[in-house]
Amino acid sequence: MELKAWVFVTFVCVLQTASCFQFQVGNRAGWRVPLANQTQLYNEWASRERFTIGDTVRFKYKKDSVMEVNKTEYNECNSSRPNFFSNNGDTTYTLDRSGFFYFISGATGHCEKGQRMIVWVIGQDEDSTAGSQPKSYASKIHNAVPLYVLFLIMSVFQFLA
Ligand SMILES: *[C@@H]1O[C@H](CO)[C@@H](O)[C@H](O)[C@H]1NC(C)=O
Ligand SMILES: *[C@@H]1O[C@H](CO)[C@@H](O)[C@H](O)[C@H]1NC(C)=O
Ligand SMILES: *[C@@H]1O[C@H](CO)[C@@H](O)[C@H](O)[C@H]1NC(C)=O
Repeated sequence: MELKAWVFVTFVCVLQTASCFQFQVGNRAGWRVPLANQTQLYNEWASRERFTIGDTVRFKYKKDSVMEVNKTEYNECNSSRPNFFSNNGDTTYTLDRSGFFYFISGATGHCEKGQRMIVWVIGQDEDSTAGSQPKSYASKIHNAVPLYVLFLIMSVFQFLA
């Protein structure tokens, strides 16, 4: 029982601190209509961050919504067919693949005023080329695989014991 708890806590902690990172969209400002002189607010924020597979983006907002759409819909602020929609005020979205993710607000007129964002998620292959990045980021994905394996082995061990 003790071992199981230890493995679980270790797994969760490592997952939180080293393997999977949660990004607060827009930092303290959250997810809202940007000021008229800051229409690129969210893309500027996203371009300063480095997203890898398994990371999450957290949107905090009031009387608004968040949608994940395709590139065409992003460019046109078309909210009619989102791949993902949430309006509960506190939305966590998992970046489960590499490539581009397009987010817009579903509230009328908000996307047009700049409440939209493109997130680029780096692939595992591209990861090794990023030599200038801090080591903690560069080792993130590589650490994740052995940990899952470890967890699996420990679970099996626990099952047999
Ligand atoms: C943007 O406009 C606000 C007021 O509307 C002003 O306080 C702020 O300094 C401006 N920011 C920039 C970067 O010009
Ligand atoms: C986005 O989806 C719409 C249909 O829902 C489609 O017409 C359009 O071609 C798609 N755009 C891209 C870039 O996939
Ligand atoms: C939004 O997208 C849908 C489906 O892709 C399309 O039928 C509709 O015409 C688009 N609306 C606008 C305003 O472009």
